[in-house]
Amino acid sequence: MTDRKIGVLFVCLGNICRSPAAEGNFRYFLEKESISSLFNVDSAGTSAYHAGEPANSHMRSAAARNGVELNGFSRQFEREDFRRFDYILAMDHENYRDILELARSEEDRNKVFLFRRFDPQNTGERIPDVPDPYYGGMSGFEKVQEMMFRTSASFLRWLRKEHGL
Ligand code: 4NP
Repeated sequence: MTDRKIGVLFVCLGNICRSPAAEGNFRYFLEKESISSLFNVDSAGTSAYHAGEPANSHMRSAAARNGVELNGFSRQFEREDFRRFDYILAMDHENYRDILELARSEEDRNKVFLFRRFDPQNTGERIPDVPDPYYGGMSGFEKVQEMMFRTSASFLRWLRKEHGL
């Protein structure tokens, strides 16, 4: 293994609900398994609508119920992220397309995945989106939190196998 940390970036539209939740849940499992120092983790939005803002308060309280803290501030995804990160996880198909539009090489494109490809409850052929909870009620945020909890745990299991960790 090289000295370089494994870079993981979670991306949604606003970077205030879904991607901060994915990032927070993923960090929670890294901490729990004492392997945080091997990773460089961040999140970003395809838009700059909420740049500089902290995570949405409903998303934060849903995450807190699982003991997951959401820190950090919204920023926009940029081309440079293809160089900084090894895995770029899109929360929905629109994010996925928007990220790929900024890719400049096959190497860039190969870094982009739909997050719910790693959802152990995903059985269908088409990989489902993480639904945007922003315009709905509290139950939407809770549902997204459950999804993030199980999917980031399973994504980490996959990464540990890939990297022999
Ligand atoms: P997120 O949710 O992409 O999960 O952070 C959204 C937050 C804000 C907006 C859209 C989605 N917005 O249009 O302001």
